[in-house]
Amino acid sequence: MMKKILMQTVGSLVTSILRWIDYRFYHSSTAMTDDEVIANPYTHYNEIRSHGKFLRSQRNRGWMALGYDEVQAVLRENRLGADMRKNEFVSKMIRLAAEGRKVTFLDDPTMLNLDPPDHTRLRKLANHGFINKQILALEPRIAELVDNLLDAIDPGSDSFDVVKVIAEPLPVSVIAELLGLPEEDQPRFLELSRQLVGILALGNTELMDAGACASEELSEYFARQIEGKRQSPGDDLISKLIEVEEEGDRLSNEELISTCIVLLVAGHETTTHLIGNGMHLLLQHPAEMQKLRQNPALIPNAVEEMLRMEPPVNFTARTALENFELFGEQVQENQIVMAVFASANRDPDRFPDPDKFDVTREEPGHMAFGYGIHLCLGMTLARLEAKVAFEKILARYPNLGLVAQEISYVPVPINRGRESLLVSTA
Ligand code: HEM
Repeated sequence: MMKKILMQTVGSLVTSILRWIDYRFYHSSTAMTDDEVIANPYTHYNEIRSHGKFLRSQRNRGWMALGYDEVQAVLRENRLGADMRKNEFVSKMIRLAAEGRKVTFLDDPTMLNLDPPDHTRLRKLANHGFINKQILALEPRIAELVDNLLDAIDPGSDSFDVVKVIAEPLPVSVIAELLGLPEEDQPRFLELSRQLVGILALGNTELMDAGACASEELSEYFARQIEGKRQSPGDDLISKLIEVEEEGDRLSNEELISTCIVLLVAGHETTTHLIGNGMHLLLQHPAEMQKLRQNPALIPNAVEEMLRMEPPVNFTARTALENFELFGEQVQENQIVMAVFASANRDPDRFPDPDKFDVTREEPGHMAFGYGIHLCLGMTLARLEAKVAFEKILARYPNLGLVAQEISYVPVPINRGRESLLVSTA
């Protein structure tokens, strides 16, 4: 009972804090937390971007970069830090939401939440595990994993849920294998990985609570794995990260644990959404899907277009480390500046006819993987998984269609993804 009351209290606190950082603009009647915006953020962002590409929130607590050049400028700006622990308000909010639990992903220094020079050091070391050539060599194994997932679909059924059957299990299995985790641990690992992303579900204490518990269990789990791999190293990412050395520097045990967890947080749900969002886009645009059937070599280009149209991460945020001027405006210390990829990717000054889904589009440079020093470390892996998944699905099912259904989107403003997506195969 006490626990329930505490959860409710924390829940309402978190909700009010979320409202505090909520970005409402004079020109818009909707906000990013509204259900209609979760379902279709693009109309909302197109509308507010038409009033300005760098806008102050109505309550003057932060800023939003919506234009392509503005998002890049924000992410290049070293007076804006990624370490939200330095923002008094956000760190207080996270502490409350985590109910006093230690949350490895939020408390410990990780690539995502460090600023230079610490970020530079950690990234340089972790980079060794993400050499393009080695990641691309995973293609045959990823193809095998996708085949196994498709083989498991009931042959008597004329529809399947592409999110549940492929988009969700594939990225976790790939990360688990990449890290070199024993096969028998994978079901529990998958469960914990699912729960872990709940940490980001600000406003939903139940999910956050489960996320914090998963984070604790995963930290202990990775500590044991790291210890084991110190004794007998293998040909896997954890062993590689243990061995990595740059000018006499190595990752500490805590850094190894938090790097493993951050790879899960950053690489799991995002890739799931890329596959789910991309499949939905193809089903909504059958002529574009037909082009891929006729010429599968177009699939990598189509994946880029999916990432541009519906990036799995709508935005990121930085905190102002000091007062300074940006685009003629006064940014104040502790204000939050959001960089909205979902808007920048549809900036008409950068992408002609930006709301059109065109798998043959030839303008590169979308920002679905971010920009600047925090540019996604796992983008080669994510692209590869999506490419293989679409190749296999299209090759196996010549008559894919969209089953009539109400699509529900993940209820977290930062993410863009379908919770499930039923496709017909006959
Ligand atoms: C479609 C899938 C993915 C998307 C859309 C995505 C998106 C992003 C974005 C936007 C950032 C920058 C965040 C910021 O600037 O605040 C980022 C960073 C990062 N991503 Fe990804 N990501 C994906 C897949 C992956 C995968 C598969 C992995 C690894 C297994 C991964 C690992 C990372 C890491 C470690 C960072 C932090 C890099 C740094 O701070 O230096 N991501 N990702």
